[in-house]
Amino acid sequence: MSRIFSGIQPSGELHIGNYLGAVKNWVALQDQFETFICVVNYHAITVPYAPDELRTRTREMATGLLAAGIDPSRATLFVQSQVPEHTELAWVFNTLTPLGELERQTQFKDKAGRQEQIMAGLLNYPVLQAADILLYRADLVPVGEDQIQHLELSRVVARNWNARFSSDAPYFPEPQPRLTPMRRIVGLDGQAKMSKSIGNTIGLTESPDSIWDKLRPAVTDPARQKKTDAGDPEKCPVIYQLHRAFSPADTVAEVESNCRGAKWGCIECKKSLHTNLIADLAPIRERAAALAANPAEVDALLDAGASKARVVARQTMHEVKARMGLPEAQ
Ligand code: AMP
Ligand code: TRP
Repeated sequence: MSRIFSGIQPSGELHIGNYLGAVKNWVALQDQFETFICVVNYHAITVPYAPDELRTRTREMATGLLAAGIDPSRATLFVQSQVPEHTELAWVFNTLTPLGELERQTQFKDKAGRQEQIMAGLLNYPVLQAADILLYRADLVPVGEDQIQHLELSRVVARNWNARFSSDAPYFPEPQPRLTPMRRIVGLDGQAKMSKSIGNTIGLTESPDSIWDKLRPAVTDPARQKKTDAGDPEKCPVIYQLHRAFSPADTVAEVESNCRGAKWGCIECKKSLHTNLIADLAPIRERAAALAANPAEVDALLDAGASKARVVARQTMHEVKARMGLPEAQ
């Protein structure tokens, strides 16, 4: 069975962009593949952070993933810092990653532009990501579109290591992205990708009222000034995209015809979306609330996940060290 690996930073709430672009796919794929899902807290510390907040958010992220349908009996869900082999392999990969490849990563350039002082960890972020994936020798990585460049780097690292240390039969597979049709969800501002750092998100476990407060002013077709103007759903960056994700096909058809025919105003369209959206998210919100009331259970699931992941991680590091001339800890 092929292996899939994916990761998510505990740097903010789980939002519907993460959900549609990645997490929903993980839930669907966990039946077909041997699945590893990691809350990547070592990645989250590459920018300034507060330790107590990170601890809380790590558990909250795991809670959100469990509530969204990651099933620990089918997938291995764990926290990166609980499996020390991730950072060990990252060091090894640092010695095989050309600096130029790291400097041209767009996410690095974006994030570096927002920092007063740029730490080496931010530059080396994608090396740790390569280690995450290759530690499990995963072939497929279900992610959103923004991760494609990082995965190219993972393939460079795999290729470089293989060429140097396993030219006979490549030890590491070259991991491929697995995208969904919802690979890039636009934020409520109608401009940037939905992202916690921009504040244009809808949280996966947000209350119906709070979701409505965000949907009501969300950007629609900019050419549609008033209700009597015909709209173009394809030019409506947010609402129509979300209708297609959350509403049944006949509603999507109705929305489309009512928009083009100026029969519905944007508020009516948003109300219909709100109804479908909250119905879809209600079970996730309920499960998240039940899990949040029992943090010890979440921690126990994560400990068990880390133990399972470590069995594979140790075996890979054993092979890596043997081939690289590095003695192991006794
Ligand atoms: P992050 O929250 O940046 O750790 O991202 C976790 C996962 O969600 C990654 O696979 C991202 O590619 C995906 N993702 C994040 N934001 C979006 C978005 N707006 N649309 C689609 N996928 C996204
Ligand atoms: N960089 C990814 C993101 O921001 C998170 C991540 C870390 C990841 N390690 C990974 C994703 C390994 C996939 C595979 O979303």
